Amino acid sequence: MKTIIEPFRIKTVEAIRMTTRQERKRLLEAAHYNLFLLKSEDVIIDLLTDSGTSAMSAEQWSAIMRGDESYAGSPSFFRFESAVQHLMPFKHIIPTHQGRAAEAILFSVLGGSGKRIPSNTHFDTTRGNIEASGARADDLVIQEGLDPKADHLFKGNIDLERLEAYLQNHGSTVPCVMITITNNAGGGQPASLENIRAAAEISRRYSKPFIIDGCRFAENAYFIKAREPGFSDAPIEDIIRETFACADGMTMSAKKDAFANIGGWLALNDDELAEQARTRLIQTEGFPTYGGLAGRDLDAISQGLKEIVDEHYLAYRIRTNEYLGERLDALGIPIVKPTGGHAVFIDARAWLDHIPPLEYPGQAVATALYEVGGIRACEIGTVMFGRVPDGSEAPAAMDLVRLAMPRRVYTQSHIDYVTEVFEELATIREELIGYKIVEEPKVLRHFTAKFEPLAIAS
Ligand code: F0G
Repeated sequence: MKTIIEPFRIKTVEAIRMTTRQERKRLLEAAHYNLFLLKSEDVIIDLLTDSGTSAMSAEQWSAIMRGDESYAGSPSFFRFESAVQHLMPFKHIIPTHQGRAAEAILFSVLGGSGKRIPSNTHFDTTRGNIEASGARADDLVIQEGLDPKADHLFKGNIDLERLEAYLQNHGSTVPCVMITITNNAGGGQPASLENIRAAAEISRRYSKPFIIDGCRFAENAYFIKAREPGFSDAPIEDIIRETFACADGMTMSAKKDAFANIGGWLALNDDELAEQARTRLIQTEGFPTYGGLAGRDLDAISQGLKEIVDEHYLAYRIRTNEYLGERLDALGIPIVKPTGGHAVFIDARAWLDHIPPLEYPGQAVATALYEVGGIRACEIGTVMFGRVPDGSEAPAAMDLVRLAMPRRVYTQSHIDYVTEVFEELATIREELIGYKIVEEPKVLRHFTAKFEPLAIAS
């Protein structure tokens, strides 16, 4: 059959509150044109993030009832540990309340001033945690990964030559090498198993632990199966195990590819590092058998990890983004190609070429999407990354708008509606205007900054 159906039936539903364009215009103004400041009830289709927004299955809700809330030694922990180790063969599995907590613990142990940590592209919380420790975070993604138009099957690959040179030049200050799969900040693009293995091999030669940020590991594995020579017949679970077998550790947000609404973990092979991490965990998260989570959350994750490897689900998942991408492409809207695993990224800088980067073309697209159709998306560009450490402002590498798909939440007609909103936007593209920031915090400004449309501000 040509039609890839949503491979689930819907048993419980949440009503969407419909709003009018007039109403949304007012709500947008009241939220200072920052979509993070909207109430989610005022959003029709929420594509702000795929993180923690998954629909849980009946089996996961059942597992939640099985959750055991003992402070220490809960069976929920042991089910969680074995579900993780089934896919990711690490010795120490340390639960955390979400991915960034795993990062904070890892870099409290490995970071510190004078150190530097390379990756394909660090996600913003990873970068934040590295920098908070006093270390430096460097992105070494391949050149194609920075070009929205470049057609490359693995745009999330790390540049192996640059990695080698980096380790040669800065070796003594590098505590570990990382890779993010899929590469969220670069468009949800996968890294190939060949590239992951080669990066691990280079790291090993320089005696550096190789750490995978594995938030979207199953989507990455599906891309490997679909695109990398030699893997078309390989079971997804085997690809996942091979991916992690070459690493020394991982950080994970279970809010992505574990279908959980909260949770994460840090996994390590090294006993001494793990002991230091657990000490830190007890100080900041909780006892090592719950790590900031309820026992029931651990059970939701264990069950989610069994479901995420279903190839019918992954085919539907990847196809959803492809489907939306194809329709936007047909409308002449520039997107990052090929479409990523968890999201479609609009190249706002190219689309709204009348708005310079420092007037935030991404913010203009995101606010227009909300006003016209009640769709909430996320600017990933100069608003998010434009404030540089010395306090000045510079255009980010790209001005993207991310339409992130929550897992198992929306159906094809929701996606068709999103397409229709873009169709309308395409007719008013030239009328869209830039923004200025009128108030912002010192770090992570995109979450709380207040904006004004430039025509009104000037
Ligand atoms: N690493 C990557 C690649 C991520 O995408 C995220 C979160 C994290 C780490 C941190 O995990 O949220 O559980 O603390 N990304 C979300 C997003 C927030 O919208 O892309 P967390």
